[in-house]
Amino acid sequence: MKARGIDLSQATRQDMRTYVCAQCHVEYYFAGDTQVAGVPVDQKGWRSRISRNITTRFGFKDWVHKDSGAPMLKMQHPEFEMWSSGIHAKSGVTCADCHMPYVREGAIKVSDHWVRSPLTDLSRACQTCHRQSEAELKSRVLDIQNKTHDLIDKTESAIVDAIDVIAAAQKSGATDAELAKAARFSSQSKYAVGFRVVGEQHGAFTVRKKLRGFLRRQSTMRGKRRWRR
Ligand code: HEC
Ligand code: HEC
Ligand code: HEC
Repeated sequence: MKARGIDLSQATRQDMRTYVCAQCHVEYYFAGDTQVAGVPVDQKGWRSRISRNITTRFGFKDWVHKDSGAPMLKMQHPEFEMWSSGIHAKSGVTCADCHMPYVREGAIKVSDHWVRSPLTDLSRACQTCHRQSEAELKSRVLDIQNKTHDLIDKTESAIVDAIDVIAAAQKSGATDAELAKAARFSSQSKYAVGFRVVGEQHGAFTVRKKLRGFLRRQSTMRGKRRWRR
């Protein structure tokens, strides 16, 4: 949390209802030979840096792609990160608000400890704050999830195309230096998609702008004939 610029001694009870989950529901990697678990963030903000810098700044890769030679990363479970950039985080809504809605046990109100999909009980998970019907809320969630899924599909096939282009360029004699940028880009895109895939359910609450940006850049890259020679 310190690396993220969060001072836990200043955290409110409401903040803690998210931070408790962030102990586990984050992206992490195993650094160097010591294999110490690290969180790829720095104080300047994890969001763009996590994909742009994890290989360069943190010197980490999960594997090297055998055709493109690009360093690749496998995303774990960045729910905290996905949540952080969404409308609910901005509005002070915590993980527990949706995943541990309050229930009444006789005269006392407690948090539900059956931590599961809020879609199993939208009335308690969402209707405490939202006045829309359950059906409407559910269709909003599914609609956004489907759109996110569609973007992920498109980006994935663009990445596969990019790998083919890089591999073809290698065969036709392009140097590593010439290809470094392309390879780095393809691994970043893969990482960004990884983010979306694992965070897909939370696509509902996060901007999809970034993925679109990647798609645009991928198509520019595909257009670069010089790699085909
Ligand atoms: C000590 C680590 C840890 C903490 C802390 C933690 N989780 Fe989890 N959580 C896990 C693991 C591991 C799984 C996967 C369990 C499995 O697949 O059987 C999981 C699964 C889940 C799931 C999916 C459940 C399902 O039905 O598939 C949800 C939702 C979830 N956690 C939410 C939360 C929330 C909300 C908090 C904070 C209130 C939290 N977790 C705190 C480790 C943790
Ligand atoms: C505004 C409500 C809301 C908040 C806040 C929220 N979630 Fe979720 N979460 C959902 C919904 C909706 C789903 C999708 C459930 C489904 O598709 O069945 C989900 C899915 C999940 C899953 C399982 C699916 C997956 O994406 O792999 C986990 C784990 C999870 N949330 C953890 C968290 C954690 C940790 C936080 C806080 C950092 C959090 N959630 C904050 C609504 C929320
Ligand atoms: C503790 C209160 C609270 C809970 C619980 C909550 N929300 Fe929200 N939700 C908000 C607030 C506040 C906003 C921002 C509203 C605004 O600015 O218009 C919001 C915004 C949204 C939006 C609009 C997002 C966008 O990008 O336009 C959707 C969709 C949504 N919530 C769905 C859900 C669903 C589904 C659940 C249950 C899984 C849920 N919310 C639970 C408070 C909550």
